[in-house]
Amino acid sequence: MTTKAETKTPRETVTLIDNSNGRTLELPLLPGTVGPKVMDIRPLYNDLGIFTYDPGYTSTGSCKSAITYIDGDNGILLHRGYPIEELAEHSDFLEVAYLILKGELPTAVQKTKFVGDITRHSMLNEQINFFFRGFRRDAHPMAVMCGVVGAMAAFYHDSTNIHDPHQRMIAGYRLIAKMPTVVSWAYKYSLGQPFMYPRNALSYSENFLHLMFATPCEEYKVNPVLARAMDRILILHADHEQNASTSTVRLAGSSGANPFACISAGIASLWGPAHGGANEAVLQMLTEIGTKARIPEYIGRAKDKNDPFRLMGFGHRVYKHYDPRAKIMQRTCHEVLDELGMKDDPLLDLALELEHIALNDDYFIERKLFPNVDFYSGIIFQAMGIPTQMFTSLFALARTVGWIAQWHEMLTDPDQKIGRPRQLYVGEPMRHYVPLDRRG
Ligand code: ACO
Repeated sequence: MTTKAETKTPRETVTLIDNSNGRTLELPLLPGTVGPKVMDIRPLYNDLGIFTYDPGYTSTGSCKSAITYIDGDNGILLHRGYPIEELAEHSDFLEVAYLILKGELPTAVQKTKFVGDITRHSMLNEQINFFFRGFRRDAHPMAVMCGVVGAMAAFYHDSTNIHDPHQRMIAGYRLIAKMPTVVSWAYKYSLGQPFMYPRNALSYSENFLHLMFATPCEEYKVNPVLARAMDRILILHADHEQNASTSTVRLAGSSGANPFACISAGIASLWGPAHGGANEAVLQMLTEIGTKARIPEYIGRAKDKNDPFRLMGFGHRVYKHYDPRAKIMQRTCHEVLDELGMKDDPLLDLALELEHIALNDDYFIERKLFPNVDFYSGIIFQAMGIPTQMFTSLFALARTVGWIAQWHEMLTDPDQKIGRPRQLYVGEPMRHYVPLDRRG
């Protein structure tokens, strides 16, 4: 089969020629507002009897979306058109959440109402308290989150009808509002400390720090520098178009599953070390490397094809340039360490040196491997006193906004169908059953 692009007015097409039988098919090229064009292959199977083969979806657009745009070659990330740098600098997490969910920055009145709505949904049904108590104290927080968030469908039946726009909105608000409570309770449970309840007078990020670090015994004063840093980290993780966990949420939702089940599926996918689990893995890797003198050994291992070791927090499917979130994260890391009097933190020192060596190494240069968002976030979390096991849960907390927005966009897309990929079958052709006594 050969493929040639043709430019025709009024629309561009690609003509596919099946060289095995000479049949041709003209497929439209769909333009986005920015970014590469997309070939609409929907008639392909019907007209030529052929499927596409693209494991890992390296060349496949699974949907159309107006939420987030990434230009990986130039390190650009836009939410609803706004650059991530501007949002991280001037906005706050709930304002960015509103933008991602609704498409526009809120007016002052809209913002006050939205913040109020989220704030007043932050308590968990008290029965969930007992659900938590069924887990082992040493359970991984992401395992607890998969379970608790999935179980929320059993506690909030009144927001599981996906065909009702109001229920969809309430489910989204509940998930965004309650996620800090869920994450912090997973943490408190692991410590054996009492669960803390949300405080409505605090901002989203302040409340999260309060839930994590306050105890009923004494007043906890939220450090404003840490609250701002946490807010920025949440903004940086809020959405990232069709990554593995978001695609998982969309695929789960495409069958009509309820929103709590879909977000739980997203959490499961995020947990993997090639995705959100990388922030935990970066800290483990830095701790294992230990000293600058051992960096060359680990760089050598990362380059060795016979060694499964990879430099965690490095590389990205879409960014072939410095991840713009990693730059902001690095700055935030310095701010937090300065605030905490940890300017000479050996882990940050090690990370900066590792980054420097990798960015000057031909292997990483040729493959365009740069630090991603996870490279610095773990150092910040650790400085804040958050244990390594909790890191990916914080990513899930922030990404819930993006998952909800993408799930909602999918459900309201007239082109939406149940997600059902096909395959290249390489197994046995049909054969007939052989009774047990005639086998072998
Ligand atoms: N260390 C060493 N080599 C790497 C790394 C790395 N971190 N990442 C990619 N490579 C190499 C691969 O071995 C491959 O080399 P080759 O061409 O000689 O075979 C080449 O770079 C391309 O890598 P792929 O695995 O094909 O790229 P892919 O787009 O499938 O993977 C991924 C992207 C999963 C992020 C990968 O870079 C990786 O495993 N990074 C480490 C884990 C990590 O940090 N994940 C977080 C991603 S960001 C996020 O989810 C928030």
